[in-house]
Amino acid sequence: MSTSTFFYITPNSSTSTFKNLLSSHHPIKTQPTSFLPQHLLKTHVPNRKRFNLATASTPTVLESPPKSSFRDKPPKDINVLVVGSTGYIGNFVVKELVNRGFNVIAVCREKSGIRGKNNKDDTLNMFNGANVCFSDVTRLQILEKSLENLGVSIDVVVSCLASRSGGVKDSWKIDYEATKNSLLAGKNFGAKHFVLLSAICVQKPLLEFQRAKLKFEAELVEEAEKDDSFSYSIVRPTAFFKSLGGQVELVKDGKPYVMFGDGKLCACKPISEPDLASFIADCVLKPDMVNKILPIGGPGKALTPLEQGEMLFKLAGKKPNFIKVPIEIMDFVIGILDFLVNIFPSLEDVAEFGKIGRYYAAESMLVYDPETNQYSDEETPSYGNDTLEDFFKKVLEEGMAGQELGEQTIF
Ligand SMILES: NC(=O)c1ccc[n+]([C@@H]2O[C@H](COP(=O)([O-])OP(=O)(O)OC[C@H]3O[C@@H](n4cnc5c(N)ncnc54)[C@H](OP(=O)(O)O)[C@@H]3O)[C@@H](O)[C@H]2O)c1
Repeated sequence: MSTSTFFYITPNSSTSTFKNLLSSHHPIKTQPTSFLPQHLLKTHVPNRKRFNLATASTPTVLESPPKSSFRDKPPKDINVLVVGSTGYIGNFVVKELVNRGFNVIAVCREKSGIRGKNNKDDTLNMFNGANVCFSDVTRLQILEKSLENLGVSIDVVVSCLASRSGGVKDSWKIDYEATKNSLLAGKNFGAKHFVLLSAICVQKPLLEFQRAKLKFEAELVEEAEKDDSFSYSIVRPTAFFKSLGGQVELVKDGKPYVMFGDGKLCACKPISEPDLASFIADCVLKPDMVNKILPIGGPGKALTPLEQGEMLFKLAGKKPNFIKVPIEIMDFVIGILDFLVNIFPSLEDVAEFGKIGRYYAAESMLVYDPETNQYSDEETPSYGNDTLEDFFKKVLEEGMAGQELGEQTIF
């Protein structure tokens, strides 16, 4: 049985003390008094106004700057706030940080997961060993109130937030605004380091979610430039396994493998959720990952869709059978959608989804050199042990459970 303490706070909670929270009408699984070590419970929660650095026009100086960095403390005394904790990567990040002994506060929605399929209890069960804080990252005041109610300071914020749809407005709302809220709220409660899960594709931004991510990245870097005591790690991973597993079961059932062009238009170094979570957790303490943009892929060489398809047919014991779709078909469809958006603005997201599909069909998820317009396998660092081949084998045996794509089934 777990010895962890579950404690959660709702966004509407109007109380600010642990005692009051205990008597809230929401069920609490175990005694929250052991939620955090005693010395952290006593930690002064900084005055929000005084610490509102990111919105201040001139940098504000901390009244009593910390003599030692949170990096000098043992993990059990380091409070890590994780936003986007219920996502494909976020939930592995929470588990990895818990395993490493950090004091993890996972910020969640009351209904989380794809199409809100998880209720509060599902979320609490998922995050064994972490402290769950139900709040709303899209509303700064509510998020700050939730953190105030926790009554503790934050050392590090890890953001795995992402728009679940990739739609235009939602991308700006989540990949930029909600992530910015997490930075502002985190800093106001003492955070000295921010780990951002971004994406390698922002190197060549053609899509709205990439522009939203880049805007936040730039503001995060700016924040560290004007505040010496604050740092960041921006993690830009290549493709996730879930984005490459969509055809495994089709091939197993004898269907052809569909790819664009000759199947060599793009390549990636896929990385698994546990490996990426481990890399992100490294960013919390490792000094050599501080104030850096970190592109990262999984083990082995980069793989094109053709190579992925060949691997899949071999593993499935089937004769290779490819359908090659000219990429121009996508350009034609996108052209029509772009035209229609001028007449029917409500089609904005449909047109954007077309562009996202086109982008992933033709652009590599590798380190990009804008001067030569080339992607490089060699320049893209590798991390971890999980291979795409092992992932394909697993899906062939067990199916795609846990690897579902987001709401628009694009990524
Ligand atoms: N797919 C790929 O191959 C790939 C490759 C490289 C990088 N990336 C990047 O990796 C990042 C994470 O991807 P992922 O697949 O882990 O994302 P995901 O599974 O879609 O998770 C998104 C997280 O953001 C939260 N979120 C979304 N909308 C919200 C809202 N309105 N209010 C509160 N929370 C909200 C979700 O909470 P709920 O559970 O409550 O919805 C969830 O925790 C993204 O930035 C993506 O661009 C992806």
